[in-house]
Amino acid sequence: MFARRIAVIGTGYVGLTTGACLASLGHHVVCADIDPEKVDRLTRGEVDILEPGLPELVAENIAAGRLEFVLGARKAIVAPDEPAVEVVFLCVPTPMGDGGAADLRAVQAVANEVRHLLPAGCVVVNKSTVPVGTAETTRKMLGRRDVSVVSNPEFLREGTAVHDFLNPDRIVVGSDSQDAAERVAALYSKLGAPTQLTDAASAELVKYAANCFLAMKLSYVNALSELCERLGADVLEVTEGMGYDRRIGQTFLSPGPGWGGSCFPKDTHALLQIAEAAGMDFDLVGATLRTNTRTRERVVEKVRDAVGGSLTGKRIGLLGLTFKAGTDDLRDSPALAVAELLTAEGAELVGYDPACPTGVPGVTDGISVVDDPLAVAKDAVALVVLTEWPQFRALDWTALGGVIGSPVVIDTRNLLDPDVLRRAGFAWMGLGRS
Ligand code: UGA
Repeated sequence: MFARRIAVIGTGYVGLTTGACLASLGHHVVCADIDPEKVDRLTRGEVDILEPGLPELVAENIAAGRLEFVLGARKAIVAPDEPAVEVVFLCVPTPMGDGGAADLRAVQAVANEVRHLLPAGCVVVNKSTVPVGTAETTRKMLGRRDVSVVSNPEFLREGTAVHDFLNPDRIVVGSDSQDAAERVAALYSKLGAPTQLTDAASAELVKYAANCFLAMKLSYVNALSELCERLGADVLEVTEGMGYDRRIGQTFLSPGPGWGGSCFPKDTHALLQIAEAAGMDFDLVGATLRTNTRTRERVVEKVRDAVGGSLTGKRIGLLGLTFKAGTDDLRDSPALAVAELLTAEGAELVGYDPACPTGVPGVTDGISVVDDPLAVAKDAVALVVLTEWPQFRALDWTALGGVIGSPVVIDTRNLLDPDVLRRAGFAWMGLGRS
């Protein structure tokens, strides 16, 4: 099914990637946002998030006439001289609200705005991560018998969003209307991915179930890395040995300073809350969250031990601020969580991140952000690697050793080559490695 007119409401990570990728599959996509300046920038082809391949895809599809940006949902849906819109994707934020539940106000606002504008036969697709039952709630909010609602969760990762969208492991489409589900699935047919057609509630739960399972896998590995240190084992050897088991797999087994980002923290809290509302104590998810808190504290313990038992007044250099490499996203970054704990103990922090050349008020407060790794090292009593940027491996460690106050590196991503560091005169400490 090609050359269909599709509206995408919301141009965040998911909305913009969805819009640009669907356009690249040949559909005519109109993306709406409520921020007039953002709409102007996108219309000029300017993408303000760091996402490889996305600016090119946006520019190509604007030039081909398949992708446009408009202000407000109404304009994306009502276009008198165009064919009627067939599918409307809701890609609006669903942040963590009170008590950990997803805040659905943005979804509600769009549903209210568009309910009288949708043409008969149109399909509304929830792509945002929403609690189980939201398809049904959206259907009621729309109050339209002639409009179907479909849940079609997105599984893309920041930093590889375009690749993930165009090479999906699976497409999940859930609806109580078989016809609507098939119409949405057909939009992706060119991708040749395994496609699961299911009911709306199951599709909605797939997203939480997958993200929380991945977070649990990481908490398991992070706890394992602590055990490895206590037992004198090497977590990289242990995870390699585990990963050969095809039921476990080699990926998503790297210990770190805890997991973060805009999805896992929000979705783990939301699943806990969803389970609680359903009368169930899903303690595996609770333990996953508690282990994540413990992992961050353990990093601070390591830094404290490495600098002689007290952080008060100690200058600590942070390498990496974003929640993972390949993105400029600082939301719920484990690096910033560790920084906050270090500051609380009186450390003086200097930070460097290749994607964040300057500090962001209200986000990186408490860290003096510099645009030069040498300035981070200068007079510091320890460097802490918090994000796995590959370029940190290629730093001139001898030069850093020349300006640092005390040559100590705590590498929470096990990123650096310990031999290179030792040759440059550094004491190197990884996570879960003796
Ligand atoms: C995550 C999921 O991986 C996507 O499938 C999902 O679509 C997305 O959330 C979402 O819900 O929108 P993302 O938040 O981009 O994607 O980040 P991940 O690559 O999953 O990383 C999450 C956190 O785990 C990061 O802090 C990362 O550094 C950490 N991580 C990841 C590790 O510590 N070790 C690993 O081996 C992998």
